[in-house]
Amino acid sequence: MRIYVETYGCQMNEYDSSMILEILGAAGHDRVMTPDDADVVIVNTCAVRGRAETRVLGRMRHLRGLMRRGAALGVVGCVAQRMGSALTREVRGLSFVVGTGRYEELPAVIERATAGLTTVDTSLPDASLYEGRPAPTSASLCDFVSIARGCDNRCSYCIVPYVRGRERSRDAASVVREVEALVALGARDVTLIGQNVNSYRDGPVRFADLLRRANDVPGLSRLRFTTSHPKDLSDDLIEAAATCAKVCEHVHLPVQSGSDETLAAMNRGYTRARYVDAVARIRERIPGAALTTDVIVGFPGETESRFRETLDLMEEVRFDSAFMFRYSPRPGTAAAELPDDVPDEEKIERLKTVIALQQRTTGEINGALVDTDQEVLVEGPSERDPSLLYGRTRTAKVTVFAGTDAPPGSLVRVRVTAASAWTLRGLAPGGPSGQKGLAAPRGGLLD
Ligand code: SAH
Ligand code: SF4
Ligand code: F3S
Repeated sequence: MRIYVETYGCQMNEYDSSMILEILGAAGHDRVMTPDDADVVIVNTCAVRGRAETRVLGRMRHLRGLMRRGAALGVVGCVAQRMGSALTREVRGLSFVVGTGRYEELPAVIERATAGLTTVDTSLPDASLYEGRPAPTSASLCDFVSIARGCDNRCSYCIVPYVRGRERSRDAASVVREVEALVALGARDVTLIGQNVNSYRDGPVRFADLLRRANDVPGLSRLRFTTSHPKDLSDDLIEAAATCAKVCEHVHLPVQSGSDETLAAMNRGYTRARYVDAVARIRERIPGAALTTDVIVGFPGETESRFRETLDLMEEVRFDSAFMFRYSPRPGTAAAELPDDVPDEEKIERLKTVIALQQRTTGEINGALVDTDQEVLVEGPSERDPSLLYGRTRTAKVTVFAGTDAPPGSLVRVRVTAASAWTLRGLAPGGPSGQKGLAAPRGGLLD
């Protein structure tokens, strides 16, 4: 069978989709890159916000129209887990709905689908991890390894624990083996992912130990990790990140809000002061570390003054970048019981305000990098201008540059010549003499 997989949501889902393709590949199926070519179309979905969910439902109805007659359409991932059989009423002609803990069943599910049978399987075994996963057969230059599944936190707004189940850590040896396998297949930059990597535990092995082990994998150039929860960011982890040469100077530390009242209502388990202290500890041990975050505006009870505290915190910390969202009540979560009392127009206004502030800060931080040298991992030609190369700094900033034809996977030193909130521009020294740096990019949202 020819299989097409479309993925929404976070890196966990990206990882799961490659696992699904490997499970199906091992069962003799082939991957295709467009839905009209496929015998089976699988949509891996995200339920984190209402809008993400509606968009995915719309996309599935659209896909139906693109597919060949007789092809099967199936849903997996977090919306499948959350909605189960209700999905078969939302999207006509679904062949299967498979939740986040049952991917090893997909070969059998597809067999049933081709016999005209519909499957809905959303059981979520507490233990399901990645045991069924065959060894990877291909890798991207920048790739991911999932170190845990699920989440045991109960942030009051968040659907993730309900759709991914209890937190369970993979055994450290299999994580390291997978990093080695990906490197052998060409990966150079690997991110260890989990909903809360700090709480990783395999017997006596804590996350900091795992990081040290992965750092020792020969042939790997860069190691990253995400997401860290501010409530349990240990000094040991900061120390491991500071001392492991391959671990990049970048910490993603979602703050969500700058107001202690809102943080408490969100059940985040830290105060603003503790968050600021965690930032100080990172910056002290890892000079030049990029710090990124997630922010939610319009959580229940967020008054104008509580919102100001978020703005104030963002000005105090000065994040390199941020993912910013307006609060979306999710059925079954604790916060969904609270009155959703910030009007939509106000949420949108607040979102615009945080985005504008962050854009300014990112522009300023990036601007200060002009005339510095940055190590960039070459990823390939720039999409916009194939005569230029594109890659990322250790601090995860997208960089477009000239002056070298180093192949993908090379580490090059790039002199930053211009910067915007979205991209650094630069020149790799040692390029053709007399070649000037690139002109400063124009501003604007789409830059
Ligand atoms: N495990 C990670 C990521 C969780 S989902 C963490 O703990 O940070 C990614 C982000 O989506 C969250 O950090 C949060 O900012 C946002 N988010 C989650 N639920 C949301 C909701 N109901 N409404 C708006 N944003 C939400
Ligand atoms: Fe959701 Fe909180 Fe778990 Fe992150 S730590 S996945 S925000 S419950
Ligand atoms: Fe979305 Fe599921 Fe990830 S809800 S954010 S795809 S864990």
